[in-house]
Amino acid sequence: MIIVLLGPPGTGKGTQAAAVRNRFRIPHISTGDIFRRNLAEGTPLGLEAKGYMEKGELVPDGLVLDLVADRLRGPDCRDGFLLDGFPRTEVQAEALDRLLSGAGRSIDHVVLLEAPDETVVDRLAGRRVCKSCGAVWHVTHNPPPADLVCPECSGEIYQRADDAAEAVLNRLRVYVRQTGPLIGYYDAKGLIRRVDGSRPPAEVVEALFRSLA
Ligand code: AP5
Repeated sequence: MIIVLLGPPGTGKGTQAAAVRNRFRIPHISTGDIFRRNLAEGTPLGLEAKGYMEKGELVPDGLVLDLVADRLRGPDCRDGFLLDGFPRTEVQAEALDRLLSGAGRSIDHVVLLEAPDETVVDRLAGRRVCKSCGAVWHVTHNPPPADLVCPECSGEIYQRADDAAEAVLNRLRVYVRQTGPLIGYYDAKGLIRRVDGSRPPAEVVEALFRSLA
């Protein structure tokens, strides 16, 4: 099964991806997590992506496409995968289609998670993330451990730089301008499954699984 998770920042893509990965036993590929890992390790890719990410801008397509193509060649992607945060532009969507069709494959579902702007602004202001494994908490809805040490991997729990208020507002604008057109792109192919991401997490998971049936 090949699934794309689409939706504005903070609608719960990362949160839901964990449930989808466990249910379908497919790898969760988050381009945001890949960039953050590179940033933490100080690689040239991470350093190049840093400025764009902190301002809430998209990293240039050229930097994203090779790393995704490379990742999808991994043996764990043979039976499917879940893409979170990719594609984000029409150039990326077309490149993904070409990559898949070249391998005789295609996307099965595009899940569009939706939530009002005020909901996602609140969620991102309170979000805390593990620097190592990407696990996600929220200071009020799902508080992290008091010592800010990840119970899964012992990584440091921190607040993402792009969750600062100004960057969040820019990310929302960038989403509308650059990623919004993908809704029409995938709708025309009959792939879009709309899921209300503003409900409590367990309800969102249920709706998401129903949308994939
Ligand atoms: P990325 O990491 O992909 O960020 P994003 O798409 O902005 O999405 P988020 O991670 O902010 O939100 P989410 O929807 O995953 O929400 P979450 O589950 O964490 O990208 C970051 C940056 O990297 C980009 O801005 C760009 O610079 C670059 N980048 C990445 N991919 C790129 C690409 N393809 N091309 C170019 N540039 C790229 O949930 C948020 C919070 O809400 C958490 O605290 C969570 O606990 C809480 N929450 C979740 N669901 C619920 C719920 N149902 N009820 C209550 N609280 C909830």
